[in-house]
Amino acid sequence: MKSVIELISERIGLAIDKATDQKASAAIVTPATDAKFGDYQSNGAFAVAKQLKTNPRQLAEKVVAALQIDDICLPPEIAGAGFINLRLKPQFVTDRLVGISSDENLGIEKAERPQRVVVDFSGPNIAKQMHVGHLRSTILGDAICRMLELAGHTVIRQNHIGDWGTQFGMLIAYLRELYAEKLEQPDVVSISDLEQFYKNAKAWCDKDPNFAEDARKEVVKLHNNNKDTLRVWGEFVKASRKHYQPIYDTLGINLNESNERGESFYRDKLADVVNDLKKAGLAKESDGAICVFPEGFKTKEGEPLPFIIQKSDGAFLYATTDLAALRYRVNELKADRIIYVTDARQKLHFEMLFAVAKTAGWTDDKIKLDHITFGSVLGEDGKPLKTRSGENVKLKELLDEAVKRAKAVVEEKNPELSGDEKEKIANAVGIGAVKYADYSNNRTSDYIFSFDKMLAMEGNTAPYMQYAYARIKSIDRKAKERGIDTEKELKNIKRLSLAESAELALAKHLIRYSEAFNSATADFKPNFLTSYLYELAQKFSTFYNACPVLDASDEIRPSRLLLCKITSQIIRHGLKNLLGIKTIERM
Ligand code: ARG
Repeated sequence: MKSVIELISERIGLAIDKATDQKASAAIVTPATDAKFGDYQSNGAFAVAKQLKTNPRQLAEKVVAALQIDDICLPPEIAGAGFINLRLKPQFVTDRLVGISSDENLGIEKAERPQRVVVDFSGPNIAKQMHVGHLRSTILGDAICRMLELAGHTVIRQNHIGDWGTQFGMLIAYLRELYAEKLEQPDVVSISDLEQFYKNAKAWCDKDPNFAEDARKEVVKLHNNNKDTLRVWGEFVKASRKHYQPIYDTLGINLNESNERGESFYRDKLADVVNDLKKAGLAKESDGAICVFPEGFKTKEGEPLPFIIQKSDGAFLYATTDLAALRYRVNELKADRIIYVTDARQKLHFEMLFAVAKTAGWTDDKIKLDHITFGSVLGEDGKPLKTRSGENVKLKELLDEAVKRAKAVVEEKNPELSGDEKEKIANAVGIGAVKYADYSNNRTSDYIFSFDKMLAMEGNTAPYMQYAYARIKSIDRKAKERGIDTEKELKNIKRLSLAESAELALAKHLIRYSEAFNSATADFKPNFLTSYLYELAQKFSTFYNACPVLDASDEIRPSRLLLCKITSQIIRHGLKNLLGIKTIERM
């Protein structure tokens, strides 16, 4: 099903073509900013008039005369200097609504040409706990995957974990020195111990060159596939996995071991990357290191900027691994598109990566490469969120705290619920609140992390949305108590009545779900979706206050029940299917 805005755009585009003897004119249709002016507005005539240097208002009149849209809209109106205002016909709204109600995707359209899309997200570093800095990549990446899957694409999730770096050399050298027994039983070392050992090891490296040299030798052993070193390393990876898998599960993130393609996966492909770039004449030695100088990248001083792929001691780098990963994704995974989700600080890295891969001919214009960035999570003081002692906030602790606070709210509001039920609600609300707060902020901006705000029952928050959902579900329960068979009424529905303005306004918003989906997907901005859902909950509230549902006459009740049903379906679909946030039947 095409979205309403697409349908209208097509018609207006054709009318502009007719009126101007042009082809494929842009209709520029947007939702109206104020319901006073209608439901949609087109600036198309205005824009074309500027191009053709004619009077926009006269052109708009010609466009309206050529416009065939009376199956969708009431007679269009021209406003201001040449805008065309459009108002949907109630009959059209009714027909759409019926269409949506029988569509499992609630009007969301599948892509015409499904693609194979690799999404690289989360990518925690082994032997360290996940911290708040991993929150956005993890949940944004997951939402991107869900959106693409819903649009019918084949999504290949790749967790590019940092499991091959110098940290292992330090860790192993440290243990060899102080806790040799742990190397015999590396499987019992916990993630928090590992993290502490790593910190100590790093501090030691910084002040003792001899130890630093030991650590370097351990990395070399690892990179040369020394059996014993690999065994210890493997256990550390396992310990890390034991830490982050439960976090993914708690957050409702579809990632597991099968999606893992860590840095180590590419270890035997790195030498080829360097050799192939050398053979192609693209990689050169510079100050002992092997570098590529992609065109157009300059240092502050105006010198060519190097993309370093091998250090003078022979070690490969983050960049080398990413080049190998890109080749693998194109050649083996057959990606049509690769999406990387990391914070904005890696912007330059990915720009250079894409430039080098293109120049080397490892990818071409048919393959779309995207770096989807995001801003930082800030504390209430407006600075990057840290603990009091200045450390990164551990993701697990943050999530535990959210659930704990949600539980206190549930205790207070619903003391009569069973312990199990309270637990379930607290989980859904606490985790949902953290995720929703993140999604509802424009991903490119920083945002302030506030438990109080995200757990508030009022405003654009998860608890508000979850409550709105539970409230609609309670109508079903009340109906049952009163002996009203809602299923049957919905099945035998004869006529939809949208006579009340609140009914019509709600219905018009319901049929725009696919529009919200399309705008959220266009640039992967889930905040378009949360805004839509929030507005939906508000429109529902207005409707519910103005229009009795169960107390309505037998004539009208089925129609109102249908509005309730589609509203709850869309809220659930948006929260659960697109954002991976749990809904609750009773709250
Ligand atoms: N491990 C990296 C980090 O913590 C993220 C990996 C992103 N993906 C990639 N292909 N470079 O920053």
